[in-house]
Amino acid sequence: MSNYVPGLEGVIATRSRICSIDGEKGILAYRGYPIDQLAAQSSFEETTLLLLDGELPDQDKLATFSERLRRNRRVKYNIREMMKHMPPTGHPMEMLQSAMASLGMFYPGNECLIGEGRDSCGIDYIHDMTVKIIARMPVVVSMWEHIRKGYDPVEPHPDLSTAANFLYMMRGEEPDPDLARIMDVCLVLHAEHTLNASTFAARVVGSALAAPYAVISAAIAALSGPLHGGANERVVTMLRDIGTPERAADWLQQKLENRGKIWGFGHREYKVKDPRATILQRLLEKLAAKRGGEFTPLYEVALALEEAASGPLGGKGVYPNVDYYSGILYAEMGIPLDQFTPIFAISRAAGWLAHWREQLTENRIYRPTQIYDGKPFRDYLPLDQR
Ligand code: COA
Repeated sequence: MSNYVPGLEGVIATRSRICSIDGEKGILAYRGYPIDQLAAQSSFEETTLLLLDGELPDQDKLATFSERLRRNRRVKYNIREMMKHMPPTGHPMEMLQSAMASLGMFYPGNECLIGEGRDSCGIDYIHDMTVKIIARMPVVVSMWEHIRKGYDPVEPHPDLSTAANFLYMMRGEEPDPDLARIMDVCLVLHAEHTLNASTFAARVVGSALAAPYAVISAAIAALSGPLHGGANERVVTMLRDIGTPERAADWLQQKLENRGKIWGFGHREYKVKDPRATILQRLLEKLAAKRGGEFTPLYEVALALEEAASGPLGGKGVYPNVDYYSGILYAEMGIPLDQFTPIFAISRAAGWLAHWREQLTENRIYRPTQIYDGKPFRDYLPLDQR
């Protein structure tokens, strides 16, 4: 019997060929390709195919996949009607989880993942569901932006990329190409990150041969937590709370004295700064340059807090993670605070589905064990004798 490890730190729970992290050197790679090269040269569509299939696609394959994504953007009107009845003050991650689980009711078929059927219909089912989910998640998130304000959603644009269409549907106008590229890079950066809580949730649910919509909604639930993807919106609230760069050091000291959390800092795998945080910082600088070179107060406060934290937190190997600068970037792009984590989800769906596929290729249902710390066996006492 192995030892109990809280949070499963260091426990090997699967074998995977999808993504790797060197937490000491701050290196992240998808299928062997370093994240900075993908961020500089790839697109979300191409990165998704890389994660799913294991290799960079050729031009034909990429064009066919991109076309399939564009053609699969329409969402059943029943889902739209259902969304109209959801409380507009509800969190978009709860909406997204419910909408994705409900979408699954239109696409039954996970029976074909079982046994002999898997070879024949299973592959087509897996590919078809993968396209539908990746195409529709951004659409559902942007639809919600209008529905919760009482408006009809903007129809998807048939010619735009995933990132550009997302911004188009959020705002109802075609985005500036530089902003669309920044969003595209954000989607590349968030697409995959080994066996984190949401990906593990996806693999566990997938291992039971549940439908992919159940897999995705379980992963969305895990991602919504503030210790995982939910941290990005808290970063912005925290920085607004600090207010000015001059206040950052005192604020930090007080927070740490009270054993408080600094949102957007720390990572189970990285002991140095998350490489994605560095890339996101460059994107923020690009955005600032486009707007005349001035850094915004939010970014100035973030820099001051990072500097102040380098001593007390850096000593423990706790540095900015992906959520630290992504939240600021989305805020600068005018995206509502509570939509930051859904953007994380629409990108991470690529990684979740790559893991789902991989899980199915060598599947064994997850069933870990526990140490029982409760009462010993005892006899049932009838109600009148207690
Ligand atoms: N703020 C303050 N202290 C932090 C911290 C943070 N964000 N992250 C880690 N630490 C400290 C812990 O208090 C602990 O200190 P101690 O050894 O003196 O008790 C030490 O660093 C190790 O942290 P631990 O909580 O054991 O790390 P973990 O691997 O269990 O947790 C996270 C990782 C991500 C959950 C954690 O860093 C965290 O809560 N971060 C904030 C939320 C966040 O940004 N999440 C997004 C992750 S991408």
